[in-house]
Order: sequence, then C-alpha cells, then structure tokens
Amino acid sequence: MSTPLRIGVAGLGTIGGGTVKLLVQNADLLAARCGRPVTLAAVAEPNRNRNPGVNMDGVTWYEDAMALVDSDVDVVVELIGGSGGIALKLCQAALARGKHVVTANKALIAHHGTELARAAEGAGVVLNYEAAVGGGIPIIKALREGMVGNGFARVYGILNGTCNYILTTMRETGREFADVLREAQELGYAEADPSFDVDGVDTAHKLAILASVAFGCEVDFQAVHVEGIRQISAEDIQFADELGYRIKLLGVASRTDGGVEQRVHPCMVDKKAPIASVEGVFNAVVAEGDFVDTTMYVGRGAGERPTASAVVGDIGDIARGLRVPTFGVAAGSLARLPTRPMSEHTGAYYVRLTVVDKPGVFADIAGALRDHQVSMESVLQRGRDPGEPVSVVMTLHETVEADMTAALAKIEASPAVVEPPHMIRIEEF
Ligand SMILES: NC(=O)c1ccc[n+]([C@@H]2O[C@H](COP(=O)([O-])OP(=O)(O)OC[C@H]3O[C@@H](n4cnc5c(N)ncnc54)[C@H](OP(=O)(O)O)[C@@H]3O)[C@@H](O)[C@H]2O)c1
Repeated sequence: MSTPLRIGVAGLGTIGGGTVKLLVQNADLLAARCGRPVTLAAVAEPNRNRNPGVNMDGVTWYEDAMALVDSDVDVVVELIGGSGGIALKLCQAALARGKHVVTANKALIAHHGTELARAAEGAGVVLNYEAAVGGGIPIIKALREGMVGNGFARVYGILNGTCNYILTTMRETGREFADVLREAQELGYAEADPSFDVDGVDTAHKLAILASVAFGCEVDFQAVHVEGIRQISAEDIQFADELGYRIKLLGVASRTDGGVEQRVHPCMVDKKAPIASVEGVFNAVVAEGDFVDTTMYVGRGAGERPTASAVVGDIGDIARGLRVPTFGVAAGSLARLPTRPMSEHTGAYYVRLTVVDKPGVFADIAGALRDHQVSMESVLQRGRDPGEPVSVVMTLHETVEADMTAALAKIEASPAVVEPPHMIRIEEF
C-alpha cells in the first residue's frame, strides 16, 4: 500500500475525541476507501485526562498545539475552537509550513476564511472545513463538487440545532422560551452561556461560509444581519400555527442585482414547506441551483459522532489527493460583492401588537400602515375585554423592510399600544 497520510489532531474535546475514535475504529475502512492508510500520528491537548478511550499506542501526545507544526504530520486538524487565538495561530503556522489543515471551526472560518484560503493556496495545500456548517451534513462538498455546474441565487437553512430544538419544544409543549432553554441546558443541548446559539451568531457564522461557497465571494461575516430567538413567545408560536406557519430560525443568503443579502432571524414558514418539518436538533440546508433546481440536505448539525464524520470526510479527500479550492473558486478570484442592506429587503410580515381595546385603535394602526404603503392581508384579535390589553395579530403583504419599520415605529408611538410590536418575517419558499 502507498504512503500513509499522517494526521495530527489539536484539541481532544467533544469533536477531537470523536475524530480520534473514528480514525482508530474505522482505520481499515478508511485505508481501503482512500487507497492508503490514514494514520493518527499525534494529538495536542493540554489536559492529559482527555484520553478518548481508544488505543493510543504509537501516537505522540503534545501538550502544546503549536508543536504539531514542527512535527512530521501531513494534516493538522484544528478542533480547539474560537475565532482567533491559538486556533488561528495554529492554522496560519501549519499552512505556512505546507501542512494541510482541516477544521470544524465556523467562527474561525467566518472571520478569517478568506485570508486562510489565500494562505492555503499560496502554500499549495488544502484547507477543509466541512464540519463547520451543518455538522454531519456534507453540504460544502455538495456545493463545491456535486453542484459545481450550478449558479446559485439562494441558499438557506436551519443551521443551529439548539435553536431548532427550543422552537420545536416550545411548539410541542406550549412553554415559554426561558423555560425550554433551561431544560435544553440541563439536557446538554444548550451551552451554559447560550448567547452564541440563541442570539443567532452561530447561524450567522455558518451562513457567511455558505454564501461564500455558493456565490464565489469573500466571506463577509460583518455583512450578516443577525437576530436570535429570545423574543419568540409561546403566543407567537400558537398564532403561527393558526395561520398555517411554523417558526424557524433561518439563515438566508440571496444573490440579487443589488448585491448579496445575508440575514439570520426567526421566520414564519408554511407548514407544508419541506424545511418546516425539520424538527428538534436536526439541521437542514436548501440550495437552489439554476440547473439542479431545489435540493435539501438534512442531518444532525452537531454532536461528537456526526461532526467527526464530517471532519474525517475532509481528511479522506486529502488522503485521496482531491484538491478543491477552499470556497470553490481560486482564493484570488473570490469576488467582493456589495451588501444589500436589510432596509431594502422585501417580504411579507407577521406583527403582533398588545393594544388597549378601545374605539379608534384600529383606525390608528390602519393609518400608520397606509402612510407607509404597507397593506394588510389579515387580522386576528384574541379576546375582547374593553379597556384591557388584548393581542392583535396582522399579516402584511409583501413590502419593503424600511417601510415596515417606519410603520411599526408610528404604531408603537400610539398611546393604545402597550408594548413594542413583535414582528416576524414571513418567508416564501
Ligand atoms: N460540539 C459540536 O457539536 C460541534 C459541531 C460542529 C463544530 N464544532 C466546532 O468544533 C470545534 C471544537 O468543538 P468542541 O465542542 O469539541 O469543543 P471542546 O469540547 O471545548 O474541545 C476543545 C478542546 O480543545 C482543547 N484545547 C484548548 N486549548 C488548547 C490548546 N492550546 N492546545 C490544544 N488543545 C486545546 C480543550 O482542552 P481543555 O478543555 O482541557 O482546556 C478541549 O479539549 C469548535 O470550533 C466548534 O465550533 C463543534
């Protein structure tokens, strides 16, 4: 058999541990498929108690991750995490030393993807990051290779399992966000500090990467409009159900004449849309290619084994000698596309108001909408208690976000409106 590919894994946490287990347990399968042994040669992890529970005979253990750069490994697998710090330093140094790099680190690729892609290309090595988007779903491979002949106008998805779990559980149980989040933390589905997940940042990291691969542009995380799910209430979920929708946290990237629109926010999606049925911790990515049409990929978006599967997929490509540009086109050719601001977004809207039920309130609301050319599609009122606050839900026809925002500001200023309006965008698929 030909020369083994020597692997060095940095970080033996959840994903590093899973990757080591896979490399050791399925070594024969991998060797047969790649036509050469794929050998775990070294690990780097400061904590010696983090032994993944497999036979590590012959594997060199470094406490300092940077030691991998000077070692004889061919591939450095960065599984430490963080958008900068040691992860960035390690990847930069490994690429500069002519070693291939595999990472699951979405924050790193979202912030430094373009610069690292250039470094990889300059050194003639590969930078792979399949596990950074959609966990075990091989979406980067599908976009870069399987659909290489397609132009993409839109790519979108459910990219965070924690948020999807919370929204699914809220719908199934009628419970509020804070209550379900607490339970998700107890079950290990949410971090002790859940902000990256529930505030949409993790989804935004992944969306910025997807947009780059789909549109052949530089990764532009700063251009992503980001909202999370903290404001979603049990009442919104119930109204959505009555109106025929499910609420999902989506990342949506579109290429329009005005530039690239990248947005992360809760969306109402038709219950019959395929993505609406993706529930719990599952992720889904939908890519709309100009020849293939709509394709959807579903799978586990996180966790030790699915994510290790994607990491090893990247390693397998290197073992087979497959060289694909980091973001699908040469790093030097990545376009710098203008950002289409959220104020220019057009779409339909759901708005829930809490108003004091008294004469003239509806006239004020209708007047504000009329003044900003926003047209109402339907209205629902829950309960009727003169003089007391009631919920009023409206759906609005397709309109420009700037007009919707201006109309809502006017509505909020009305003395009869007792709390800020809750607005959720309705997404047509
Ligand atoms: N968890 C998932 O489901 C998932 C899914 C997709 C992608 N990812 C990505 O995968 C990466 C790893 O995530 P994870 O969940 O496995 O994190 P984790 O469990 O916190 O593991 C990180 C590991 O890196 C170690 N480490 C810290 N500093 C180090 C250094 N200087 N040198 C070597 N090792 C060091 C940590 O050791 P100590 O803790 O002992 O300090 C820890 O064992 C992240 O980029 C994450 O975004 C994770």
